[in-house]
Amino acid sequence: MIQLSSAGKRYGHKLLFEGVDWLITPKDRIGLVGANGTGKSTLLKILGKLETLDYGSISIAKGISAGYLPQDGLTLSGRTVFAECMSVFSKLRAMEEEMEQLTASMSELDHASQEYTQVADRYQRVEHEFQSRDGYAIEAQVGSVLTGLGFRKDDWNRQTDEFSGGWQMRIALAKLLLQKPNLLLLDEPTNHLDLEARNWLEEYLTEYPYAFVLISHDRYFLDVTVSKIVEIWNKRIHFYAGNYDKYEEQKTQRREQLEAAYRNQRERIEQLEVFINRFRYQATKAKQVQSRIKELEKMDRIELPEEEKTIHFSFPQPKASGRIVAEFAGIAKSYGEKEVFRDVSFMIERGDRIGKIHINQTARRQRTAERRRIPPGPQRSGRLLCPGSVQRARSGRSNFR
Ligand SMILES: Nc1ncnc2c1ncn2[C@@H]1O[C@H](COP(=O)(O)OP(=O)(O)O)[C@@H](O)[C@H]1O
Ligand SMILES: [Mg+2]
Repeated sequence: MIQLSSAGKRYGHKLLFEGVDWLITPKDRIGLVGANGTGKSTLLKILGKLETLDYGSISIAKGISAGYLPQDGLTLSGRTVFAECMSVFSKLRAMEEEMEQLTASMSELDHASQEYTQVADRYQRVEHEFQSRDGYAIEAQVGSVLTGLGFRKDDWNRQTDEFSGGWQMRIALAKLLLQKPNLLLLDEPTNHLDLEARNWLEEYLTEYPYAFVLISHDRYFLDVTVSKIVEIWNKRIHFYAGNYDKYEEQKTQRREQLEAAYRNQRERIEQLEVFINRFRYQATKAKQVQSRIKELEKMDRIELPEEEKTIHFSFPQPKASGRIVAEFAGIAKSYGEKEVFRDVSFMIERGDRIGKIHINQTARRQRTAERRRIPPGPQRSGRLLCPGSVQRARSGRSNFR
């Protein structure tokens, strides 16, 4: 379907990867992994023909439609969410219009005429294709994908530019899924999704009838969706059969083998060097010394790649708090008319680890309200007790929604 041969890419002096031989077949479900900056996004763009190679070649079979979702930076405008999604089906809608025209002509023509037969034939052909492409169900398809990705019905008729960047990416993802390209290229699609939408996408991809290449840092997501892992490592690509779990096992094995081979080779090199240095000036050993020098020269030196850089965090040790860290009693919050929550009571105790997730629409309403800058009024109520010994810290807004 798509074949890369001896492919390589560099930006200026920086080589991203080289010697890439990779054949993508029609039902491949591939996870593309690698450390940050190794060139995953670039490689995906190359597959989508949005970037070119510096070495080697790419050949794409006829009739392959690749659909690409960028990592970020998309903006849509000028249409409602629903219309934007429907625009994917322009061809089917043209067919629908043609069918209407043909029906109108048939009602005016004499059924016995030759012209009628021609029009009726054409109608049949168009209708057949329309049906085989599921033309009668496009609105239902749009509805189901939008719902799956977390759009409520009253969002469907809002303009796309009213949505924030992350939601724009969801619209783009919806369009791509509706297009059903035979090669789907997704660059970190789960970054913009909450838990519900992520789970929906996971199911959608397991049922996807064509090939896809997916970049993701979400190993659980990869584990259930892909059947092959392609890794960019050490400026080369490496193939692993199976899901992410299998990949980790094989990767550890590969690394251990490489390290063992490296150690063996080091030992051999040392033996040879010791021998050479010791007998270098002895005429009786000249032949043996020569052969060992040759062996050293011929040796293909094994190199250990630099280990991926890891980030280390350290949080300063705060003073110990009491058993109760915070107590919320009957709290409520509104923005203008918009009530975000009410009657919420809970307690945070020392040692608790709490994840806050967005399951319903409440949080989204809150974000919408924030975007619209509705001034926060005095609509808070309830009680928050937080002893003075508690030190609070928070991280900035992240990508996670
Ligand atoms: N258009 C570009 N021009 C120059 N350098 C680029 C360009 N795109 C990416 N790079 C560089 O190439 C490297 C790989 O980028 P990228 O493909 O985005 O990696 P990944 O997706 O694996 O994090 C990075 O060092 C990045 O700065
Ligand atoms: Mg990237």
